Amino acid sequence: MLDLTGKHALVTGIANNRSIAWGIAQQLHAAGADIGVTYLPDQRGRMEKKVRELTEPLSPSLFLPCNVQDEGQVRATFAAVQEKWGRLDVLIHCLAFAKRDDLTGDFSETSRDGFQTALDISAYSLVRLAQAAKSLMTEGGSMITLTYLGGARVVPNYNVMGIAKAALEMNVRYLAAELGPQKIRVNGISAGPIRTLASSAVGGILDMIHHVEEVAPLRRTVTQVEVGNAAAFLASDLASGITGQILYVDAGYEIMGM
Ligand SMILES: NC(=O)c1ccc[n+]([C@@H]2O[C@H](COP(=O)([O-])OP(=O)(O)OC[C@H]3O[C@@H](n4cnc5c(N)ncnc54)[C@H](O)[C@@H]3O)[C@@H](O)[C@H]2O)c1
Repeated sequence: MLDLTGKHALVTGIANNRSIAWGIAQQLHAAGADIGVTYLPDQRGRMEKKVRELTEPLSPSLFLPCNVQDEGQVRATFAAVQEKWGRLDVLIHCLAFAKRDDLTGDFSETSRDGFQTALDISAYSLVRLAQAAKSLMTEGGSMITLTYLGGARVVPNYNVMGIAKAALEMNVRYLAAELGPQKIRVNGISAGPIRTLASSAVGGILDMIHHVEEVAPLRRTVTQVEVGNAAAFLASDLASGITGQILYVDAGYEIMGM
């Protein structure tokens, strides 16, 4: 029943084979979606090379540089989507950034600059991408972002990223309310802790993972592919009645009080 054949899906946030976005792209592709990939460009072109090689098996029909802080690149990305596909069905927002210094120690020491950077890249970027994507979702669509429990509860060291995730989760609700009449659904997936490039910057991430393995109802944490499966579901017509929600894919950890 889960069939994304004929759907055009733009996936942001693939950095390497541990990226959650990579798990999502693989599962969307397995369900039949046509994939477009964006990557964060660097001066030496290393990220482009790495992501191009990794995603080759999915034969992406779009492969574009998109730093969400670069207006020109955001515009060029959606212009390319318009030209290649004429419309967009699925937008995967799977990116975040905070300075390493702001992901450990006292939250009250967060700098103004660090706060602005984290909120701009990790939360405002969903608004900016939704702004560009909404007019291309002419047959309705599904926007999906990635969040974490640290946006709803205090998790040691998550600090400013927790504030960014709280803003991101509220973005989901405001966007869902606005875009619902256009049959565009907006949801978040709150994933359990997974070892990735981004999560390695959070102080004590391995302790977090071990704690989840001991306490979560399923006695383990989750994989990128499990998150990808939930994203494929939310992208599909099976989830046609679901919008504005945060779906926990965390082996059940969120329900526990102790
Ligand atoms: N790993 C976890 O434990 C976990 C848990 C819950 C939620 N998440 C969320 O999942 C998402 C993906 O993270 P991940 O853990 O897969 O790590 P990752 O490092 O693989 O992915 C983060 C991505 O963000 C991109 N990025 C950073 N700054 C950018 C910018 N200015 N413009 C465009 N892209 C930019 C990076 O290039 C990278 O591809 C993030 O939103 C993260 O907060 C991760």
